[in-house]
Amino acid sequence: MKTFILDFIYILSAFSFVFGIKQLGKPSTARRGNLIAAIGMTASILGTIFLNDTVMLKNYPWIFGALIIGTIVGTLMAKRVQMTQMPQMVSFFNGMGGACAALISIVEYDHYLHHADSASATRVVILLLGLVIGTVSFSGSMIAFGKLEEKIKDIHVPAQQVVNMVVLLSIVALIVGMASGFLTNPDFIYLILGLSVVYGLLFVFPIGGADMPVVISLLNSFTGVATAFGGFLYDNKVMLFGGILVGSAGTLLTVVMCRAMNRSLTNVLLGNFGGVAAAGPAKTVTGLIKEVNASDAAILMKYSKKVIVVPGYGLAVAQAQHVCHELESYLEGEGVDVKYAIHPVAGRMPGHMNILLAESNVSYDKLVEMEAVNPEFKITDVVLVVGANDVVNPAAKNDPTSPIYGMPILDVEDAANVIVMKRSMRSGYAGIENELFYSPKTRMLFGDAKKMMTELVNELKAAE
Ligand code: TAP
Repeated sequence: MKTFILDFIYILSAFSFVFGIKQLGKPSTARRGNLIAAIGMTASILGTIFLNDTVMLKNYPWIFGALIIGTIVGTLMAKRVQMTQMPQMVSFFNGMGGACAALISIVEYDHYLHHADSASATRVVILLLGLVIGTVSFSGSMIAFGKLEEKIKDIHVPAQQVVNMVVLLSIVALIVGMASGFLTNPDFIYLILGLSVVYGLLFVFPIGGADMPVVISLLNSFTGVATAFGGFLYDNKVMLFGGILVGSAGTLLTVVMCRAMNRSLTNVLLGNFGGVAAAGPAKTVTGLIKEVNASDAAILMKYSKKVIVVPGYGLAVAQAQHVCHELESYLEGEGVDVKYAIHPVAGRMPGHMNILLAESNVSYDKLVEMEAVNPEFKITDVVLVVGANDVVNPAAKNDPTSPIYGMPILDVEDAANVIVMKRSMRSGYAGIENELFYSPKTRMLFGDAKKMMTELVNELKAAE
């Protein structure tokens, strides 16, 4: 009976994970999705502790002590973290997941040694793969955390690829040796552990800070895979299911981010943007720049029917999201239809713009994803580009020599007027010029996004 109830709980939990992830797809349901998946996870943990017939647990004080400490620390961290520090936190938690998977392998290897009847090469391989992948995820995530905190700089080891390959091949050779019975000393597991730590460090050290979101997502998928190996070991279906879900979701997110940046994963991991060398030098852009002041820009928007705001990395740097919402409210008060166009890789982390705008209480239905908003630019009077650059660069469509050629962009040049708010003519993340700034439709509003947004709001107030 106990086993039946436990299996039933596992099935319900598996559903809650899938349903929860589905709900994370929309800002309006994301909170609920998170809660549903968390309830499913709690049910699986409690079910495993109290209803598992195969192992009689005696160490409740340790289990509940750890659960209580973990819950308190996790809750405090989650409550205190700033929105801008979210990637660090994800990286830290992911590293902890990897460490757990690695610890499971170490503990279970000890069990395996003392119960030789359950010995099998497959079991040893599963154990050691869980150890390696979990450890790489742990050490890599800790370096990613340090880089995002700006405590660790990019470090390039001479002949990096060769060193990485030597470490990786040594790990593979040790696993084969131990699984085949050729290496009989059990302490080799600690050599594998040490080499895996080194591999994780080497893997993340050279990657540029702005590429960290892609790496974190990849490491996240590693933790999922390591957990799935744990599920195999214990024959625990919900652990296996959860691990596969995290592994595939992390892999998909990695692929989506790379695609949205028009870069291959190898290119990100080797830390060089866009394969510029292969494509040749990008076209130099020349032409006249037209400037606009806050007063004229405010009047132009006030007398428009439809305005689309394109937020980018500069909005986050300037922390201009609150005053941006204020501008939107003023324009709406004047009868202007205002929307936000959200590019999948605007900013520096997945969902960066959604999070910022949600923080300033912009209504979710005003945020329109790239595919849906692109046809709307044709019927838009003014596009206000706030601290965005690469995501509106037409070179992605019409310059085959550009490193961002092929990256889907927001078609802002289809609108009647484009106002670009940024501090200078400096390039964005991809380090390339933007011909949009020279277009006859474009006017540049130079200055810090928060300062210029405040000026726009003041001009609108004055014009009332
Ligand atoms: P970027 O192309 O990086 O351009 C940001 C622009 O903001 C810069 O040109 C800068 O110009 C301006 N800026 C900076 N501080 C500002 C401030 N205080 N006030 C006003 N403007 C300011 O940003 P984007 O268009 O959002 O594109 C994102 C880029 O990051 C893409 O290339 C993408 O591939 C990459 N990336 C994204 C992610 C994710 S997951 N989102 C991850 C890794 C990389 P000034 O210096 O002249 O002001």
